[in-house]
Amino acid sequence: MENTRKRTSQEFIELEAKYGAHNYHPLPVVLERGEGPFMWDVEGKRYFDFLSAYSAVNQGHCHPKIVGALIDQAQKLTLTSRAFYNSVLGDYEKYITEYFGYEKVLPMNTGAEADETALKLARRWGVVKKGIPNDEVKIICCEGNFHGRTITIITMSNDPDSYANYGPLTPGFIRIPYNNPEALEEVLKVHGDTTAGFILEPIQGEAGVYVPDPGYLQKTYEICKKYNVLFIADEVQTGIARTGKLLACDHENVRPDILILGKALSGGVIPVSAVLADDDIMLNIKPGEHGSTFGGFPLAGRVAMAALEVVREENLAERATYLGEIFRQEMSSIKSEMIELVRGKGLLNAVVIRNKPGKTAWDVCIEMKEHGVLAKPTHGNIIRFAPPLIITEEQLREGIELIKKAFAKFE
Ligand SMILES: Cc1ncc(COP(=O)(O)O)c(C=O)c1O
Repeated sequence: MENTRKRTSQEFIELEAKYGAHNYHPLPVVLERGEGPFMWDVEGKRYFDFLSAYSAVNQGHCHPKIVGALIDQAQKLTLTSRAFYNSVLGDYEKYITEYFGYEKVLPMNTGAEADETALKLARRWGVVKKGIPNDEVKIICCEGNFHGRTITIITMSNDPDSYANYGPLTPGFIRIPYNNPEALEEVLKVHGDTTAGFILEPIQGEAGVYVPDPGYLQKTYEICKKYNVLFIADEVQTGIARTGKLLACDHENVRPDILILGKALSGGVIPVSAVLADDDIMLNIKPGEHGSTFGGFPLAGRVAMAALEVVREENLAERATYLGEIFRQEMSSIKSEMIELVRGKGLLNAVVIRNKPGKTAWDVCIEMKEHGVLAKPTHGNIIRFAPPLIITEEQLREGIELIKKAFAKFE
């Protein structure tokens, strides 16, 4: 007999606790539907999504054009592996390379995979083109970085939650302070000959939306050029219109040597990531030397082209700039002892919370959830606010009013 009883949020939460690994600590809300800037829980309550799955849903939930492309392609051909050619990949490769202005793309699935790919690509270039002895190749990374969760990537992290007690890490990385071009030059003065690349987030998202000083990207790019080091931009979170430009590097007219994209490349529909570079870098990896069963699958190509078309057709970068100004202005106007600082760019913003005894950013997020707005703390006292870029001004203002009411509860 079919059980038609509607299950409660609590039941879903208990199921996950019992059968799933405990590697996340979600806010206690169980979502079952999304549309545009909204999501609904299993009890039917509507929420503004002010996280956008960590900026993967820039185009809004279940965008009809993207979902349409998914369904259409799913009924034709989903996966071939790269053992064979498929009738979508070439079109997608042409589209995305022209869109971002690179000669080649290497398609992967998750952000971490794309970051790994970029590191391999830089190391390979370092050995083959720059002539660094294989065992001596170095990559420079930044304190506070977040590039994903593989063993090599957590090697770059200085957050013990990420790297501690996972056994031996990967050699060949040097970490320097973020937002400090002099630190890069100091290291390169010593290790310039053996360094292949410098990897950075143009704005550090997971760290709590740290926006570097104006000129940082330009200066570090120039230092990289001086020492023949590749400038590798991880735009998995900042890219695809989130910060008010197509890429966050565009704010300083910097063109990365290697560009890493993920998340919103599919509008949050399926995992699609990509590494873009020119031939001189990309063609150092030969057939059989890197890959992924799903990377570049037909479904991904169709979905990503639709997702990128939406970004242009709906002027998402311009929207992010305009709406971001409103957001920061309104949040800064809130008179609350708990708000220490509001910062961000475009629609990637954060509020730094001054925790009170027994009242933390987590409690603020729970209160916002009660009022119908979903966001999540990072690093204990920072709340990131990143609604889908398709949100209208009216909807944004409605969401902000709910956030204000939530903060008022703490006064
Ligand atoms: C800048 C950056 N790089 C890489 C990643 C990893 O992406 P994924 O979770 O898809 O592996 C993230 C995820 O938050 C990110 O913000």
